[in-house]
Amino acid sequence: VVTHVDEQRLRSVSEKVAARWTVSTHQPIHYEIESVPGVLDVDNLRLVDFTTDGRRLVVVDDAVAGLYRERIEHYFSSNTREFRLLTLPGGEANKNDAALDQLYAGFESFGLKRRSEPVIAIGGGVLMDTVAFASSVYRRATPYVKVPTTLIGLVDAGIGVKTGVNWKSHKNRIGSYDAPSAVFLDLSFLNTLPARHVSNGLAEILKIALIKDRDLFELLESRGPGIVRDDVDWARPDAALTSIVQRAITGMLEELEPNLREHVLERKVDYGHTFSPVIEMASLPALLHGEAVAIDMMLTTAIAHRRGYLSGEERDRVLAVNRSLGLPSTDDVLTEELLTQALEDTVAHRDGLQRTPLPRGIGQCTFVNDITSDEIATALGDIRGAAAALAGSARA
Ligand SMILES: NC(=O)c1ccc[n+]([C@@H]2O[C@H](COP(=O)([O-])OP(=O)(O)OC[C@H]3O[C@@H](n4cnc5c(N)ncnc54)[C@H](O)[C@@H]3O)[C@@H](O)[C@H]2O)c1
Ligand SMILES: [Zn+2]
Repeated sequence: VVTHVDEQRLRSVSEKVAARWTVSTHQPIHYEIESVPGVLDVDNLRLVDFTTDGRRLVVVDDAVAGLYRERIEHYFSSNTREFRLLTLPGGEANKNDAALDQLYAGFESFGLKRRSEPVIAIGGGVLMDTVAFASSVYRRATPYVKVPTTLIGLVDAGIGVKTGVNWKSHKNRIGSYDAPSAVFLDLSFLNTLPARHVSNGLAEILKIALIKDRDLFELLESRGPGIVRDDVDWARPDAALTSIVQRAITGMLEELEPNLREHVLERKVDYGHTFSPVIEMASLPALLHGEAVAIDMMLTTAIAHRRGYLSGEERDRVLAVNRSLGLPSTDDVLTEELLTQALEDTVAHRDGLQRTPLPRGIGQCTFVNDITSDEIATALGDIRGAAAALAGSARA
């Protein structure tokens, strides 16, 4: 029985005990992104020599397996003590819990060691995001290495620390921030990438150009269309192409590095990512990620133009470059309701404010919090009108 006296004594004792602890630390993040041409050449040991243990679990999606299985098997069976290839179903629709389950089961059955056997993800953005998330939560953190094989992967998904999968119809809803042990870039993978997926990657490059790099925009204006049309040999890219890829990566990393865990929610690299997550998921699987991003960029270019942030001539240049890269500017899935809903979801994602980057001329941007439904409706009419006019002039 606790008496009144006991309570008083307890209180006086507890008042003398400090009841506050502070944990405050900085945990440095360090990883390298290295260009390694011929990363799967048997005598190129970069992919296996950065840790000492000789076991490797390699994950690819079915399309990459179809194209590269023999090379991957030859490479790892020649250069490791033991290796296993795990194949996931590809595509945005498979970026989900089921893929995670397959990965956890694969980690278990391989008997993955906790620190010394980084999982190697070879593939596009979907595969890398999924493997990176599974690794980041498996035993709370298991190291992983990214080897991007798509243009989106090389300039965007492969080089950052964001991991994740979709949850129900919500894009990248479940995810984490977790740095890879290493990233190896080999452009020659792009020699097998279908043209539509090259365009898809060019959308993220155009994003960097529009918000922070006018020179990159001009490079895309001159060299861009050829990248989609030509028979580019990505194992031997010309100077302009090399410059386009390198400027995109450098520009992206300049934005990511000081804000890796997105403590600042005004992110220039969120350009094209205000409306696109909902557009992409609503149209799944019709629009690719970069295509939804392109549509978002054209819509917000129209909004910026109506606000006087961008001249009519600049807006038309942006629309023309987007088109010349093989990217759409609108889609039938777009309605005012869908776009309003998309903006609401993004406001929650950006903690209560729109924080939407809009272009200021070409190569700079500004953040706004006051886009209205009327502006969205007008911009939608503008991009539909521009697309119809272009289609008309193409027919004529
Ligand atoms: N984590 C990030 O910071 C980040 C950044 C940008 C995009 N993403 C995500 O990336 C995804 C889009 O990336 P993606 O376009 O690479 O998608 P993806 O992984 O689906 O790859 C596109 C298609 O190309 C195939 N493929 C991959 N490499 C190939 C090659 N060398 N030759 C032929 N075919 C090949 C794939 O099997 C797939 O069918 C989206 O889910 C997006 O959310 C993430
Ligand atoms: Zn993106």
